[in-house]
Amino acid sequence: MTNLLERYKQVRARTEAICQGLQAEDFVVQPVVDVSPPKWHLGHTTWFFETFILQPYAAEYAVFDAGYNFVFNSYYESVGVRVVRTDRGNLSRPTVADVLAYRAFVDQAMHRFLAEETRPDERLNAMLELGLNHEEQHQELLITDIKYILGHNPLLPAYPTCYDKPDVPHIGPEQWVSQSAGIYNIGANGDAFCFDNELNRHKVYLSAYQIRQQLVSNAEYLAFIEAGGYTDFRHWHAEGWEWVKANRIDAPLYWHRIDGVWHHYTPEGLMQLPLDEPVCHVSYYEAWAYAQWRGLRLPTEAEWETAQAQLQWGSRWEWTESAYLPYPGFTKAEGAIGEYNGKFMVSQMVLRGASEGTSPGHSRPTYRNFFHPPLRWQFTGIRLARFI
Ligand code: AVJ
Ligand code: FE
Repeated sequence: MTNLLERYKQVRARTEAICQGLQAEDFVVQPVVDVSPPKWHLGHTTWFFETFILQPYAAEYAVFDAGYNFVFNSYYESVGVRVVRTDRGNLSRPTVADVLAYRAFVDQAMHRFLAEETRPDERLNAMLELGLNHEEQHQELLITDIKYILGHNPLLPAYPTCYDKPDVPHIGPEQWVSQSAGIYNIGANGDAFCFDNELNRHKVYLSAYQIRQQLVSNAEYLAFIEAGGYTDFRHWHAEGWEWVKANRIDAPLYWHRIDGVWHHYTPEGLMQLPLDEPVCHVSYYEAWAYAQWRGLRLPTEAEWETAQAQLQWGSRWEWTESAYLPYPGFTKAEGAIGEYNGKFMVSQMVLRGASEGTSPGHSRPTYRNFFHPPLRWQFTGIRLARFI
């Protein structure tokens, strides 16, 4: 299993590289419930391998610390009680050094296991793939959580990013891709790794539509702000309008207006807003309101997937008009792994694409990301669609 061993080493090293620019204090805080302390991500991804690979499959493996299951189990009811999510930031212990020792301990056991295991069965292989893809998901969460932690520090510090990210495109003149009405196939066929929520491949009927090739730019979004978009209830869902008022929302997350000039927070610190870059850090409510204001709409996930080969994508997660629901034939795995995706299929919206924070090679045309409508700390953007 040398291929898997190499891949394991690369994925684990990248997680640590993402944290390289942090100071000890940055690892511990949880400014809002959705943002986990970096230290917790480092422990949780390690716990995943310990719990789902080493304990069931590696003979005579003894856990690093029996107390860690309580601390690093995220949401798996099948694996026992755990620290409530809102308390992840109260964990001054285990220390950063403890968590790094935990990582080293599990890595050593994993290295030995992957080097010695010569007769992997299908289930073990699938679990290893899931563990690696799981860690890649947490790499993006680490990147977004670190940005939130430092971007909500009043000093707005710059910090080094030690990971590869795609170039963010400049948004040129708009072009539209047309798709005729008909029956199309969407979803993964199961040939290569995918998450369970991408199965099964199935038919959908689409009415004729156009989808815009480019994402919405900062300049375009700024026009919505300047036209009073945030002060006119007519553009918004009722829920969105309540959210705007309750939270006094008047711009995307990380935007700051200083002496009349729009800036945004980045790892380089506060920078003047680049007008030709795709808008980022908007909620589903904002994406939808923006489309309404333009007299347009967001694409459905099936429209997105059908047209994706002709779209410029990869820098922003794109809110779709689709609720996160099971595809026809969706089944949950037995046991804890069945809790991975399926139990979250309520009250969330699907996002398609990938972002500047997504691990290289992690996403694909059938990938279904999902978040609750008000959330916007991920690298979320807007694509437009219309019926023709
Ligand atoms: C797919 C990004 C919504 O953040 O909970 C991490 C990823 N799943 N650990 C999430 C995930 C299990 C998931 N998202
Ligand atoms: Fe997780």
